[in-house]
Amino acid sequence: MRWWDIDDVLALERALFPDDAWSAGMFWSELAHARGPYATRRYLVAVDPEAPPGAHGTDGIVGYGGFAAVDGTGDVQTIGVLPSHQGTGLGARLLGELISAATDFECHEVLLEVRVDNARAQRLYERFGFAPIGFRRGYYQPGNVDALVMRLGLTADTTADTTAATGPTSDSASDPSSQGTQIHG
Ligand SMILES: CC(C)(COP(=O)(O)OP(=O)(O)OC[C@H]1O[C@@H](n2cnc3c(N)ncnc32)[C@H](O)[C@@H]1OP(=O)(O)O)[C@@H](O)C(=O)NCCC(=O)NCCS
Repeated sequence: MRWWDIDDVLALERALFPDDAWSAGMFWSELAHARGPYATRRYLVAVDPEAPPGAHGTDGIVGYGGFAAVDGTGDVQTIGVLPSHQGTGLGARLLGELISAATDFECHEVLLEVRVDNARAQRLYERFGFAPIGFRRGYYQPGNVDALVMRLGLTADTTADTTAATGPTSDSASDPSSQGTQIHG
């Protein structure tokens, strides 16, 4: 994700998280730490060459994800896929890239928060080996919705494990999968 992607990512963010969408400033602040030798963030966009360009002139952004590393602990900060592209394996591809970032940043664990009522996202995380470790009461405001905290411990085998988690039909030639969609930082 680059600064010129922010406006189109924001449009997607507001559609996916109508109650607690990030502001432009939050994305700007994260991207400030995403480049250079001391980077601690990795922010990705997924671009479908067949999707129409965004209203703000970027290529057709159909997903995004962000990751932060602090003292060996990683955090999946955000992940989202355009509704028309959900269920095609793109969320799994994005999550796999974020976990690769954790390895690059030499993290020994990855944490994330997910709404307790977001079963689909929880299933995705479980597929990658994340396990529930607790709750944060009222984490999502203003709705006062609890967060489930999930953790993935990282080992040398994690990359191989996550490859198996990308989806039930991801290697089928006939599926309407996300294979034409490119993910980049
Ligand atoms: C959570 C989210 C990122 C998942 O993205 P996604 O692209 O739908 O994820 P995937 O396609 O990899 O997996 C979703 C489902 O599609 C299935 N699937 C994946 N590829 C498939 C394919 N080619 N054919 C059929 N089904 C497929 C997966 O098995 C999975 O099934 P399940 O929900 O029954 O477990 C997406 O739903 C989203 O953006 N939600 C709104 C924002 C959000 O909640 N973000 C998480 C905040 S913590």
